[in-house]
Amino acid sequence: MTDSDLQRGLEGVAVAETRLSRVDGAAGELVIGGFPVAELATRATFEETLHLLWTGDLPDADELDSVRSALAAHRDLPEETYALLRAAAEGGSTAMDAARIGAAAASVARTDAADPERDARLVVAQLPTAVAAYWRYWNGEEPIAPDPSLGHAANYLSMLTGEEPAPETVRGLETYLNAVVDHGLNASTFAARVVVSTESDVVSAVTAAVGALKGPLHGGAPGPVLDMLREVGESGDPAGYVRAKLDDGERLMGFGHRVYRVRDPRAAVLQSAAERFYRDRGDEAFLDRAQELESVAVDALAAHRPDRRLETNVEFYTAVLLNGLGVPQELFTATFGVARVGGWTAHCLEQYADNRIVRPRAVYVGDEGRTWTPIEQR
Ligand code: ACO
Repeated sequence: MTDSDLQRGLEGVAVAETRLSRVDGAAGELVIGGFPVAELATRATFEETLHLLWTGDLPDADELDSVRSALAAHRDLPEETYALLRAAAEGGSTAMDAARIGAAAASVARTDAADPERDARLVVAQLPTAVAAYWRYWNGEEPIAPDPSLGHAANYLSMLTGEEPAPETVRGLETYLNAVVDHGLNASTFAARVVVSTESDVVSAVTAAVGALKGPLHGGAPGPVLDMLREVGESGDPAGYVRAKLDDGERLMGFGHRVYRVRDPRAAVLQSAAERFYRDRGDEAFLDRAQELESVAVDALAAHRPDRRLETNVEFYTAVLLNGLGVPQELFTATFGVARVGGWTAHCLEQYADNRIVRPRAVYVGDEGRTWTPIEQR
């Protein structure tokens, strides 16, 4: 193998087949389970999307009932997990650390050996409970018990706030969860598939995936996007803000993508959802400011990097929408995990069905032929 074989970051390298989603970075297309993202995101409940990804088909009414009740039955956490989450919150851990703890601890609730389908339901059901419990402890409050009568999205919001959310808030969150549930072989999904390729279990794979999602280059951007929107709101000078950031060599959060060379199609879906939501509430100032900043930023990035198209990615309108829905900024990335765990678990099932251990190679650039120096001579 030579240096010329090196594909840093595996860019453009295909390592698996998937039926779950198709990402076309040049055309700006995303198809999930055969549906254009805009259609699935705005029409499906999250439970329908999960069934679609786990089985390949939309559920009929009985199947949907059975997904709903399986998730509702698995939502609560063992006492030991609540204790760990309390310790994490009181010790100052982030929500993503709590999500990782919650994912890893899902095996505590298992009474028998690992089973991929059952573990998928378990970890999807428990992740929102772990995030919400952490958030309650973080605020010095006790967790709200999951409500089995509510759907997945409504229950998550209710565990965060203690109130049953309005239908338009649930719809907004479901649109978000569906829009980001799967996205080809992104870093966290790849991490999950690598773990499962060793014939390890789904809970371990999801734990690794949460760790990968935590990084700012992957799932950590929407919080900083909201900071940016707030700073621009205070300064009232989006162009000046963007120029200063780029002149300082900083990256504008919510822009650029490894795969898309045009606007991320999820940005349009989330922008429309945000428009509906803010308009219904009669409060459009924040949304208007975001749209103005987007337009200024895209123009500035084009002037800054004429050689590389840097367009709006999913995180920009994630921040705008989740902020409107009342999801706390500290939970943005963890809420991304609450969605993407659907994709991670579906990829795990796919990998089990057609497995080959993932084992790439590295180009060795270290020394050769060294001779051993005893410690007293070093
Ligand atoms: N602002 C300013 N410059 C940028 C931006 C940006 N948002 N994104 C890329 N660039 C520049 C880089 O500085 C780099 O310049 P260089 O070649 O002089 O080093 C060039 O464009 C290419 O960037 P890469 O990092 O090679 O692009 P890559 O495809 O590897 O990275 C990434 C994509 C990580 C998303 C990048 O665009 C970025 O850091 N964006 C900001 C963070 C962000 O929004 N993350 C969320 C991504 S969406 C998701 O993961 C769900």
